[in-house]
Amino acid sequence: MNKIIISPSILSADFANLERDIKRVEDAGADWLHIDVMDGHFVPNITIGVPVTASIKKIAKLPLDVHLMIENPDKYIEPFAKAGADIITFHYEAIDNDDDIFKLISYIKSFGIKAGMSIKPKTEANVCFKFLDELDMLLVMTVEPGFGGQKFMEDCAEKVKLIREKNKNIIIQVDGGINNETCKICKEYGVNSLVAGNYIYKSDNIAQAINSLK
Ligand code: DX5
Ligand code: ZN
Repeated sequence: MNKIIISPSILSADFANLERDIKRVEDAGADWLHIDVMDGHFVPNITIGVPVTASIKKIAKLPLDVHLMIENPDKYIEPFAKAGADIITFHYEAIDNDDDIFKLISYIKSFGIKAGMSIKPKTEANVCFKFLDELDMLLVMTVEPGFGGQKFMEDCAEKVKLIREKNKNIIIQVDGGINNETCKICKEYGVNSLVAGNYIYKSDNIAQAINSLK
């Protein structure tokens, strides 16, 4: 069986105790740290930016999986790469044309890091097929981006199956409403990375929660 990369979303952590909450998931067997960057334009919420990401880099042992839910992502690749992102995921819906998407993928990789692209719930799977060979990761949103703690949308997870049929090697990640039940559906469709915020951080036993996703 392929290894499942578990990426806890620190959006659900206690920001007054961020170092403690990062260590908690690192000690509990997480693989990456998922950092949700929101700009109040692409999504209605504002969260974490470059300075906090740079501070996280100083204390984190795990790779930083940076999910940009922002307009004009091209302007922020260099700052986030320099802040220590190991993988940067931008949104398909934030870029107007395919040529610019190809350029953005190469640009991210030029920093020696992984490039990911995400699709929102209403975006069809087939729009991303042409980019799969260039991308390291495709992130299928299973909630409308913007907030943690929302309900998993199963019809979104079905898109994973179509994408997996086109590419056997790419990392396919799901994000939104992932728990010990919804993760099973996603794995059947061919996911190999799971983001989970509330399920992990609101659990009484973080190691058990992470294990239950694997
Ligand atoms: C939503 C974010 C998610 C969110 C996941 O816009 O991209 O990463 O934090 O939180 P849960 O797992 O609680 O749905
Ligand atoms: Zn996310």
